[in-house]
Amino acid sequence: MAAAGSAVGLGNIWRFPYLAGQNGGAAFLLIYLAFILLICFPVLVGEIAIGRHAGLDAYGSYKKIGGKKWGLLGLFGIISVALILSFYNVVAGWAFGYFLEIAFGDLLRQSDFGTFFGNYIQDIGSSFWFSLGFMVITAFIVTRGIQHGIEMANKIMMPLLYIILLGMIVYGITLPNAMSGIRFYLVPELGEIRIQTIFDALRQAFFSLSLGMGALITYGSYVKKDQNVVSSAAIISVADTMVAFLAGLMIFPLVFSVGMQPAEGPPLVFVILPKIFQDMHPFFGRFIGASFFLMLCFAALTSTISMLEVPTAYLVDQKKLPRKKVVWILALVIFIMGIPSMVSQGSPGFEFLNKLGFYQQKDFMTFISDLADISLTVGGCLMCIFISRRWKISQMHEELSIGNEHYRHSFLRSYISFAIGYLCPIILGVLSVLIILDKFVGL
Ligand code: PHE
Repeated sequence: MAAAGSAVGLGNIWRFPYLAGQNGGAAFLLIYLAFILLICFPVLVGEIAIGRHAGLDAYGSYKKIGGKKWGLLGLFGIISVALILSFYNVVAGWAFGYFLEIAFGDLLRQSDFGTFFGNYIQDIGSSFWFSLGFMVITAFIVTRGIQHGIEMANKIMMPLLYIILLGMIVYGITLPNAMSGIRFYLVPELGEIRIQTIFDALRQAFFSLSLGMGALITYGSYVKKDQNVVSSAAIISVADTMVAFLAGLMIFPLVFSVGMQPAEGPPLVFVILPKIFQDMHPFFGRFIGASFFLMLCFAALTSTISMLEVPTAYLVDQKKLPRKKVVWILALVIFIMGIPSMVSQGSPGFEFLNKLGFYQQKDFMTFISDLADISLTVGGCLMCIFISRRWKISQMHEELSIGNEHYRHSFLRSYISFAIGYLCPIILGVLSVLIILDKFVGL
């Protein structure tokens, strides 16, 4: 449940719909699902297996199985996770702010939500306090040890999130022109597939499953030996993919019913949903709107917790530092790392930050998130190489057979061998190089 909570987050509800919207809808969905099934699932299984086998943090696990040099791969993941958390926490702060402004403020009385959102994220004051608040809550839970706190939150919040999504889907489908949205999202036009669609689907699949940077090694180290890793991985993948799928099914009918463009980009969810809540009965709209953003905050919280846990586990396991102190210091450092992302959203005086985006004019947050994304696919590729060259696939199978009697003779075992040994490292290696050429070299 905790790992599913790590997977389900802003990635599913905020990022997945806007990337799908920018990449032709159904074509993106199709490629995304193929990546989840063929590439991400075996990587997910491998990551948890490493963690459970070694029983340590990301760095410690690689080092214990593969020696000091492989430990560097763990460190690489720990740095990526800190980068992701730095900007993710800013977006979580926006969601937190939206919850408060809908529940207690007059957000739903605005006339133009696009302009409102633009001004909102430029307002350093509120972004600063909301994301600081979010980081403090994250740190507080991590200091108490992750297991009790979040498993509880997940057991209540996840079902509620599903219920709200399903309710919004049913509501959306009754609106005029909703069918155009459904068609956009579910009927692929294969001519729509561009190389960018493939890149974005892969990055998103890795991001959404929290893969490639050691979060699942860390969580895997808490998994008991009598548990079935393969079926846990299946539950995590299905739960995560389901939320992303439902988020898309909710958003696109709404987008088409109000005549907006699906390729709106990052503001999509923040602009479209308030508009829909506004059109509902005032009390009802405020209630549903506030509940929706509250669930989004919980989903984001179980993800930020898992991110902060990665460097924490490293410093506690390896450097024997006290957990509480480590958590608060890391939270502060990562919060400060997020400030450039925060002010890069158009806050006056900080335009220079956005010149760092190499040949493209990107804002700093996009730049950091591109950088973090590429570290996930590279990390995943190296992890497969680690398993097949250093740890050995047969050893991984041994680990996976513990707690799963049928695994030894299953088809899945053969597929995972093939995927970790050949398919994943090749596809991830090639696509990572292409994505780097595209995003950072301008080819
Ligand atoms: N998977 C999370 C989401 O979809 C984000 C995340 C990335 C969490 C990396 C942990 C590590 O929102």
